[in-house]
Amino acid sequence: MNKIKRIGILTGGGDAPGLNGVIRAVVKTAENNYNLEVIGFLDGFKGMVTNNYRRLGKKDVSGILHRGGTILGTSNRDNPFRFAVEENGNKVYRDVSDLALQNLVALGIDVLIVIGGDGTLAIADELSQKGLKVVGVPKTIDNDLSATDVTFGFNTAVTTATEALDKLHTTAESHHRVMILEVMGRYGGWIALHAGLAGGADCILIPEIPYDLKKVKEKIEARRAAGKLFSIIVVAEGAIEKEGELVVAHRVEESTDPLRLGGVGAVIADKLATLTGLETRVTVLGHLQRGGSPTCYDRILSTRFGVKAVELAVKGPWPQMVALKGQEVIGVPMSHAVKELHKVDPQGELVKAAQAVGISFGG
Ligand code: F6P
Repeated sequence: MNKIKRIGILTGGGDAPGLNGVIRAVVKTAENNYNLEVIGFLDGFKGMVTNNYRRLGKKDVSGILHRGGTILGTSNRDNPFRFAVEENGNKVYRDVSDLALQNLVALGIDVLIVIGGDGTLAIADELSQKGLKVVGVPKTIDNDLSATDVTFGFNTAVTTATEALDKLHTTAESHHRVMILEVMGRYGGWIALHAGLAGGADCILIPEIPYDLKKVKEKIEARRAAGKLFSIIVVAEGAIEKEGELVVAHRVEESTDPLRLGGVGAVIADKLATLTGLETRVTVLGHLQRGGSPTCYDRILSTRFGVKAVELAVKGPWPQMVALKGQEVIGVPMSHAVKELHKVDPQGELVKAAQAVGISFGG
């Protein structure tokens, strides 16, 4: 069954806590159990295109389980099907996927393990349609990949956001203020919902439930009438006002999704201060959510994902993605993973539980 000799690995898209855990598990499993060599491409797909790689042995992955980021480097703008090159002093985009695949063949790589979010895995799926054997590992703090119950990195981001909420409570309570925490998550409200529940927020505003600030004001005023003079609001960066639009911070043209969200917290703070007459402050948590040591949960999940990825690389069929379903780590067809984004169900049990304990979604 074990006919493959060399596997490649790369990390693509935004970094997330746990990437190093997957790399470590892949290398150890490959060497210990299958006698495979591992080649790590640097800076995502860019390393495949430019043939920039390093051989990874057990010594190279020693002591990295608790470290955030990725020892391989990553990029969320280098797509071999639309690669930025300079021609006659101008930046143009070219399909260099054949070159990337030739580099893999020259290196004798039988299967490529790609660790990434929806953009990175969609590229991996496209490469597989050109004949490459691929195994995907679902990474993103946003937790927005379908076909897996959870992505690694999410738990750490939620933990960081919850710690921030605990700290914001102090000032909110002391100054009788409205404190807004803007968290990441792109078009999904998973981080906001989980952190809001764990951090005891009064309002959680997510993309899946367009908000009405009059409802938020009612919640704040009801709390004040009950003697609670402060309020805590968690807002996902992709939250949208009813009949409103996404708040975009800037664009990154080379990226599979060029929109970079951000700024909705400030927009809400301005409007709410005017509506309520209360002192309102906003904190944007930003990339702190992607940084630091992975939680125990993410260390374990990334290890399990890495072990399973090697098993799938060896056994096939390809392309598959590693996924957590219930308590089990399994392989699912890659096409399921990149079909659609995994969103919060506005009628789901989590939202209902939040509503039952008095949290307003402003909807
Ligand atoms: O997908 C992860 C993520 O952190 C999103 O939550 C956020 O919208 C985006 O990446 C930020 O991207 P960048 O690091 O390019 O600013």
